[in-house]
Amino acid sequence: MKCARNPKIQAFTRMGFVLSLCGSAIGLGNIWKFPTMMASSGGSSFLLVYLVCLCLIGIPVLVFEMILGNTTQMTPRAYFKHTRILKIFRHLPALNNTLILSFYAVISGWILLALLLSVQKALTGQETLNYHLMVNYPWSLGLAGLLFVAITATICQRGIRDGIEKLNVIVLPMLMVIILGLVAYCFGHGFLSLGFDYMFGARNVSLSVGLVSAALGHAFFTLSLGTGVVWTYGHFLAKERHKPVASGIQNGLIIAGADTAFALLIGLIIFSVLLGTHMNAAGGPDLIFRVLPVVFSKIPLGSVIEIVFFVLVFVCALTSSVSMFEVMRHTRTVRETIRLGLLTWALSILTVVSLNTPSTITVFGATPFVHFDTITTRVLMPLFGILVFGTAIIRGVLAIKARRPLKTPHASSSPL
Ligand code: TRP
Repeated sequence: MKCARNPKIQAFTRMGFVLSLCGSAIGLGNIWKFPTMMASSGGSSFLLVYLVCLCLIGIPVLVFEMILGNTTQMTPRAYFKHTRILKIFRHLPALNNTLILSFYAVISGWILLALLLSVQKALTGQETLNYHLMVNYPWSLGLAGLLFVAITATICQRGIRDGIEKLNVIVLPMLMVIILGLVAYCFGHGFLSLGFDYMFGARNVSLSVGLVSAALGHAFFTLSLGTGVVWTYGHFLAKERHKPVASGIQNGLIIAGADTAFALLIGLIIFSVLLGTHMNAAGGPDLIFRVLPVVFSKIPLGSVIEIVFFVLVFVCALTSSVSMFEVMRHTRTVRETIRLGLLTWALSILTVVSLNTPSTITVFGATPFVHFDTITTRVLMPLFGILVFGTAIIRGVLAIKARRPLKTPHASSSPL
């Protein structure tokens, strides 16, 4: 089936495609997960394990997903729907992205609120971020989450080239400037070597299954694999007729390289300012909402650096969330966009409420937040990864055997 493209959706330009996938890859995972994971799991020894997982599994799945999307010119849903044995998996991408986005939106809502509060702090000359507003008034988190989902949905509704591509083409160079500026700031204040030693100092680690699966899981999450994002973006790029595999590999290396470089630099910045102000290293929400605001109140030009930092985190969250929202959609009507936006928000409220009521609400021994995270990263993403691997290999082998392009279900041709 050739996807009848709505002319308003348009396709990516080649540069827009690569930048949009970089934007999807560079997200909250790079900021509050990877640096802490690396520093606490063996420094450069962990980095080595991670790079092996990235090269052996992460990048191949990334390239396979990209090529499958581009050569079939179908979304994963359309492809699965028209392939008899894969039919039952057709809702997997949408389900997976809905679950991930529902907890991603919660954190992104916090970030948006923190950004607004950091601006208020700078304007009113407060000492530290008005953190108690976030903790004591959960409704403010709910509203911020709604605003974040609304921004995400609006960008997607504008279409691929006018919405997603434009966002990424504008903000990614901005991200690069911000991050280099922050590195220069740390260097100028003599913090950089502290962060460098802490993050990269090799510590002995015993290579356990847990360590490798953590590294592999993160490689999947950070490259936005296993949910159909890369496949879907690939189908929005005009079909590569000339060497699709080579250009897939080239794009894959650029995306994985940019993502890893970003994670290392942001880790360097965070640990440099933490150690430079004698604070303990932390991770997750604690790092961003409790520790860093205190750090920002101690360093020169702290208020400005704080705003710049939260702009950076917000932008990273947004370029990632638009990729998930895009996969959730079946049609492109305004009504569907609103319906999906409200669904995501409702699920995210469930998470906020369960975390903020006096005693945390748990279902089957854990919060919905933990369940969504576990189901997606442990079950649904690996399952989709296996389907991608299998499909790509089978299509590749059949194409080589037939020595001619393979037929896509109902489609004209496909070289893979
Ligand atoms: N890669 C993003 C991050 O590191 C998150 C993300 C965006 C994602 N799209 C995804 C994760 C799809 C899994 C699947 O934060």
